[in-house]
Amino acid sequence: MSASTYSPGLEGIVAGQTGISTVGKEHVGLTYRGYSINDLAEMSTFEEVAHLLLHGHLPNQEELESFRTRLITRRCLPPGMKSILEQLPAAAHPMDVLRTGCSALGTMEPETGDNDQKQVAERLLACFPSMLLYWHHYHTCRERITVRSAEQSLAGHLLHLLLRQPPTDLQRRAMDVSLILYAEHEFNASTFSARVTASTLSDFYGAVTSAIGTLRGPLHGGANEEAMRLISRYATPEEAESAVRAMLAAGEKIMGFGHRVYKKQLDPRSPIIQQWAQRLAEASGDMTLYRISERIERLVREEKGLYPNLDFYSAPAYHLCGIPTPMFTPVFVFARIAGWSAHIIEQRLGNRIFRPVADYTGPEPREYLPLEQRP
Ligand code: COA
Repeated sequence: MSASTYSPGLEGIVAGQTGISTVGKEHVGLTYRGYSINDLAEMSTFEEVAHLLLHGHLPNQEELESFRTRLITRRCLPPGMKSILEQLPAAAHPMDVLRTGCSALGTMEPETGDNDQKQVAERLLACFPSMLLYWHHYHTCRERITVRSAEQSLAGHLLHLLLRQPPTDLQRRAMDVSLILYAEHEFNASTFSARVTASTLSDFYGAVTSAIGTLRGPLHGGANEEAMRLISRYATPEEAESAVRAMLAAGEKIMGFGHRVYKKQLDPRSPIIQQWAQRLAEASGDMTLYRISERIERLVREEKGLYPNLDFYSAPAYHLCGIPTPMFTPVFVFARIAGWSAHIIEQRLGNRIFRPVADYTGPEPREYLPLEQRP
């Protein structure tokens, strides 16, 4: 293979085939197994979408009930997991807690030959919120919470565990839609990472742990946290505009804008989450954060021709759902585990180990000098 095939960041390189989603495809846009993201966000629930991704089709009523029941049953944590979560530092980043929790669960409930990989996927889908919120409440108020709630949906359950009370219907549905939007996005960095790990025939937990580590960075999942830090820095839209203008002039990146695939086009998920952020702001009676976000969006579009990605308006939406900023990226994990799992399963079906080559830029071949002769 010649060096001319080199593409930094693998931009534009087809690294595999998938039947799970299309991203930015002409005349098609973003689809999960053929369904448009707009239809799913408007008419589906996260559980239906997770079933679609994991099991390949939208569930009928009976399948959905059975899927929901399995997820509810699998919310519990083994005692060993609770003691590990108690040992982790209170100051740990929540993404590190999930990464550790995922890896630890792999030692307690390892994937075995008889263990259906979809069972592992459903277990992780069901218990990630329990892991994070058990750790959170233990370290913030020394309480060993029960990780049960009367909530049927994952969205309601995670908000209920976090807030220690039922969320509003608006918060519950906003979160449900957000989980749908975050559930899957083709060969993004974390999914690719999961597939690379799966391609070595490693175990399911290993692949998901790799993916969590990859998602954590601010150029990927961590962008929603950085977007929140940005918009909460200013008291007014005017103040935000002059500060962000100065950041752009200094060549700084504004987190929550730009995308490798949606280069100069709209991320179709962005207007959907923006609507929910607006509804949540209106219901809260305080439009400040939303107005600041809108002003930054307009400025970055005018100055750089860049559109917001899903992470930008997720920031005010999550804030208005009562989610602490360091938990924004973990919520992304709660959703994306559905997509990662679908990709791990797909990778295993037609596996070939990933092993690209590098364009060597180091020294020419040279003579080896024994230690005593080196200058
Ligand atoms: N703010 C300001 N400028 C940005 C920008 C941003 N968020 N994203 C891209 N640009 C600019 C770059 O500075 C670069 O400008 P230049 O050509 O004058 O040097 C140009 O747009 C291309 O950016 P590049 O970083 O090469 O694009 P990429 O395809 O490699 O990266 C992202 C894509 C998503 C990593 C990038 O847009 C980014 O860092 N965004 C912020 C992080 C983020 O929101 N991530 C979540 C993605 S869903």
